[in-house]
Amino acid sequence: MGLKKKILCIGAGYVGGPSMAMIAYKCPDYRITVVDIDQERIDAWNSHVLPVYEPGLDKIVKKCRGKNLFFSKDIKNQINENDIIFVSVNTPTKTYGAGADMAADLQYWEKTARQILKYSQSSKIVIEKSTLPVKTALAMEKILSPATGKIKFEVLSNPEFMAEGTAVNDLENPDRVLIGSRETKSALKARSQLIEIYSRWVPLKKIITSNIWSSELSKLVANAFLAQRVSSINSISALCEKTDADITEVAQAVGMDSRIGDKFLKAGIGFGGSCFKKDILNLVYLCSYYGLQEVASYWENVVKINQYQQERFIANILHAMFGTLAGKKICVLGFAFKADTSDTRESPAIYISQKLLAEHAEIIISDPRALKNAAIDLAGIKGNIKYIDDPYKAAAGCHALVILTDWDLYRRLDFKKIYRSMVKPAFLFDGRNIIDHKKCHSMGFNVYPIGKMALTHF
Ligand code: NAD
Ligand code: UGA
Repeated sequence: MGLKKKILCIGAGYVGGPSMAMIAYKCPDYRITVVDIDQERIDAWNSHVLPVYEPGLDKIVKKCRGKNLFFSKDIKNQINENDIIFVSVNTPTKTYGAGADMAADLQYWEKTARQILKYSQSSKIVIEKSTLPVKTALAMEKILSPATGKIKFEVLSNPEFMAEGTAVNDLENPDRVLIGSRETKSALKARSQLIEIYSRWVPLKKIITSNIWSSELSKLVANAFLAQRVSSINSISALCEKTDADITEVAQAVGMDSRIGDKFLKAGIGFGGSCFKKDILNLVYLCSYYGLQEVASYWENVVKINQYQQERFIANILHAMFGTLAGKKICVLGFAFKADTSDTRESPAIYISQKLLAEHAEIIISDPRALKNAAIDLAGIKGNIKYIDDPYKAAAGCHALVILTDWDLYRRLDFKKIYRSMVKPAFLFDGRNIIDHKKCHSMGFNVYPIGKMALTHF
C-alpha cells in the first residue's frame, strides 16, 4: 500500500519536530520527513535523547520514527520528493541594521524559500508554520514566482499555537487550527489538502480558515494578548505589594468573571520563552512601519512591564538582604523559562542570575532539565556559579533560595530539611508563588512572594 501524502518540514526545532511527529502519529499512511541545516539536531532526533524535552513526545516519536516519520539532512532531495512543505525555521529578532532589536530577522526563512525554488522539479504547497510578520506570504510568493514550466507553488499560512511543556496535548487537542489562504481556485484546493490532514484528528469546527494576512497577523496578536495578560497581572502585583492586597486573591476575583477568564493571570518574574518578546516587538515594528505610533507604544509597554517586573524582583532581594549580596550564596531553583521544558531562551533566570552575580553573590543553580542550557547561557559571565542537580545539595549552606521556574517538584520539596541546612536568617524569594508561604514562614524562613505581603521574622 503506497503512502498517501508526502509531507516535508524544513526546520527541526521545538515546533517542526513535535508538530510533524503528531501528524505522523495521527496519519500512519502519510510519510513525514523533517530536515534541518543543523546536523547535530537531526542526529539527536534520530537518537535516544531527543533534542527537545517535551512530556509525552518520546513515546510518539519512537512509535513513528523509521515507519512514517523520518529525520534527514538531505534537504535538496527531500524538497524535490515531497509535495507539501511546512516551513518552521527560526525567525528571531533582528540584531543588526534597519529594525534592529525589533523586526523579525527573515534571513533563514528567505534562504529556505530560495532552496525550495532551486530544488523543486514539481509543484508544491508551501506552508508558513513559523511566526512571521503580516505580508510575508507575499514576499514568499515573489521569491517562488520565477518557477518555470508547469511548476506552481501555493503559499498557505498555518501558524502554530502550541506552548512548550504542553506541546503534545496542545497539538493533539488544539483550541483551533488556523489556515490562511488566497481565494483563487488553486489556493482553495491547496487549503482543502491541509484541512484533510488536520481533520484526521481535529474536529472540523475547530479548523478555521481566513485570508492569508489575517492568519499571519492572528498569530502575532494571540501571543501579544497572552503576554499582555501576564504583564497586566504583574503590574498589579507591584501595587499589591504596596497595599497589602494579595495578587492571588485579586487574580481569582478578576478571573472568575467569565468575560475575563482565569488563564494567564499568574503573577511571577515575567514571561520568558523565545516568542512572546520577539513577537510583540515584531508587532511594534509593524505598527511603527505603518505609522501607527500610539498602537506601537501601547504594545511596547507590555515588554517594558516585563522588564520592570524582573528589575523589581532583584531590587526586592537586595533590599530584604540588608542591601548587600556580596559573598552570599544564593540557590537558584529553576532556570527553564517555564516548567516541563529544558528551553531557557529568554528565561527571566538569565537576567536575574546575571544581576545576582553583578552584586557579587555566589549562585548555585538547580533545575531538573535545563542545567545544560543554563551553562551555555551563562558561559563567559564573570562570577562564581555552580550547577547542581539535587535541589537539597544546591540549597545547603546558602543564605537564600530564589524560585525562578514553576517546576512541580519544588512544591513537594522538604523545606524543613532545606531550612536546617541553610545559613540563618534564611530567605526564600518565591518568584512563581508556587509554595506554601505560611508553612515555610512557620519553619523559620523569611518569605518574599510576588504581589503579597512578605512574611518575615524581623
Ligand atoms: P528553533 O530554533 O527551535 O528551530 C528552528 C530550526 O530551523 C533550527 O533547528 C534551525 O537550524 C532550522 N533552520 C534554519 N534555517 C534553515 C534552513 N535554511 N534549512 C533548514 N533548516 C533551517 O525554533 P522554534 O522554536 O521551532 O520556532 C520556529 C518558528 O515557530 C518560529 O517562527 C517561532 O516563532 C514559531 N513558534 C515557536 C513556538 C515554540 O513553542 N517554540 C510555538 C509556536 C510558533
Ligand atoms: C506561548 C503561547 O502560549 C503559545 O500559544 C505560542 O504558540 C508560543 O508562545 C509561541 O508562539 O512560541 P510558550 O512561550 O511556550 O507558549 O509558553 P507559555 O505557557 O505561553 O508561557 C510563556 C511565559 O509566560 C512563561 O515564562 C510563563 O512562565 C509565563 N507565564 C504564563 C506567566 O508568568 N504567567 C501566566 O499566567 C502564564
